[in-house]
Amino acid sequence: MEKFLDLISKEVQAAFGAAGYEKELGRVTVSDRPDRCEYQCNGALAGARKYKKAPMIIAEEVAANLAGNEIFSQVETAAPGFLNLKITEAFLSGYLKEMSRHEKFGLEMPKAPETIMIDYGGPNVAKPLHVGHLRSAIIGESVKRIARYMGHRVIGDIHLGDWGLQMGLIMTELRERQPSLIYFDESYEGEYPQEAPFTITELEEIYPAASAKSKEDAAYKEKAMEATFKLQSGVRGYRALWEHIIRVSVSDLKKNYARLDVEFDLWKGESDVHDRIPGMVSYMKENGYAHESDGALVVDVKEETDTREIPPCMILKSDGASLYNTTDLATIMERMEQIAPDQMIYVVDKRQELYFEQVFRCARKTALVKPETKLKFLGFGTMNGKDGKAFKTREGGVMRLETLLNDINEGMYQRIADSAQQEMPPEEARRTAEQVALAAVKYGDLSNQASKDYIFDMEKFSSSEGDTGPYILYTIARIKSILRKYQQQGGDLAVAALREAHSTAEKDLMMKLAGFQAMIEGAFAETAPHKICGYIYDLANAFNRFYHETKILTEEEEEKKASWIALLVLAKEILETCIDLLGFSAPERM
Ligand code: ARG
Repeated sequence: MEKFLDLISKEVQAAFGAAGYEKELGRVTVSDRPDRCEYQCNGALAGARKYKKAPMIIAEEVAANLAGNEIFSQVETAAPGFLNLKITEAFLSGYLKEMSRHEKFGLEMPKAPETIMIDYGGPNVAKPLHVGHLRSAIIGESVKRIARYMGHRVIGDIHLGDWGLQMGLIMTELRERQPSLIYFDESYEGEYPQEAPFTITELEEIYPAASAKSKEDAAYKEKAMEATFKLQSGVRGYRALWEHIIRVSVSDLKKNYARLDVEFDLWKGESDVHDRIPGMVSYMKENGYAHESDGALVVDVKEETDTREIPPCMILKSDGASLYNTTDLATIMERMEQIAPDQMIYVVDKRQELYFEQVFRCARKTALVKPETKLKFLGFGTMNGKDGKAFKTREGGVMRLETLLNDINEGMYQRIADSAQQEMPPEEARRTAEQVALAAVKYGDLSNQASKDYIFDMEKFSSSEGDTGPYILYTIARIKSILRKYQQQGGDLAVAALREAHSTAEKDLMMKLAGFQAMIEGAFAETAPHKICGYIYDLANAFNRFYHETKILTEEEEEKKASWIALLVLAKEILETCIDLLGFSAPERM
């Protein structure tokens, strides 16, 4: 379906054309003075310069051409040359009826769908999942769902950190604790045990311990580097141990991401491209892309137009070891070969922006990607505590994601159990608490522009009033409750037909709904889930204003009542679609 604003614009553009002006001037926007009009066009102001004519005269000529137009109930000119527009109730309700009949509310699908890869999550194996990884998971999941809804082929890859020094550190610490483990006996040729020699809890304690030791003890660090090297060069025992670490860690990660309703299509990691590295390195050398610098192998990525220093992209360290860059470049190579995406989006902490600038430039310069392949860095800001500093536990440590989620769920459960509004069986209350808690956390994050730092304030996020996830869920639950009661009265949702608006509040709600398609397209084009949050917040407000001044279920005129019900059904469907794109869902009641 054509977008609502496009349809309106078309009429105004034709009127500009008929008056002898260029049509493009007739672009219509939502009014920024809702007290005066619903939509506006500022084209006469832009045209005044070009046609050397007073804007008011142009506006009046255009308005004259719109007289009698059946989609406008008001066309007014206002100094210095605005066109203030109102649309007819019939045009609006007709459009909404069309929307309800169409799949995805009439959203147009791309003629040539793109293949888009989204690199998000990015946890590091064997390190506890902490809140720092929360943002990547939440934002990436939403960006993925939006792109998919828009009709593209979308593949989400978790890109595990499973290959660097951290693996060597863990192995070194394991060896210190259990020197007799068979994995460290390099003369052993038999099968290795099926069972891992550690649990996830042990594993998570081992990494921080090893990391701390390596900072104080140079010899220990040396051992860890050696262990990393052995792993990377394929020493059997180290590989077998590494596989245990991955298995134990990944099964724990899966549990955590499932709680967040975050799902990856690919569980690839840095290690997956290890075998590609030698080939990539010789390709870069042979084609003259890479050169030696202080023993290391680098690709220059500076450009003349740079206003800041962009250091070369290092491919290999002087000891021949690969780096974070190396695996990222090899991953790009693999993705191009296996999937050939049109676009790759990386959802990573914005502090890695310079790093990705280097990697992207290097990938382009060395032709790992096609010239038209889009590489996008979606950097997110820091999640801060109420003190404005990076979010920590009360004791000042790194907050584990699991702990955080448990705390939040518990708090939400108490709230729901305490609210005397309705009797809810404890099981349902638990489930509802989890749903609302997830909405609170995700909406709290996504309603901010991703690149900005924000304050993680669970109290504020959990409030059922204001710009929060729970407020949206309450609104949906309210609509569902009205629809249930309507059905209990014998009403049939399927036959309820939408009619023209009876009040300003109803018309406002309708106009909000009509803007769905343009909003989603914008959120996708700008990889901006916060636009969906802004939209549903406005939509929920518009609904609640309408709800407070309308006695829906006691309305005696059946047609009127049915029309309101149809409007509610559409509002509910759009709200539910939007929260699904944000990555959460609504309970039946709250
Ligand atoms: N594991 C990395 C980290 O914790 C994030 C990975 C981001 N993705 C990538 N392709 N480099 O910082």
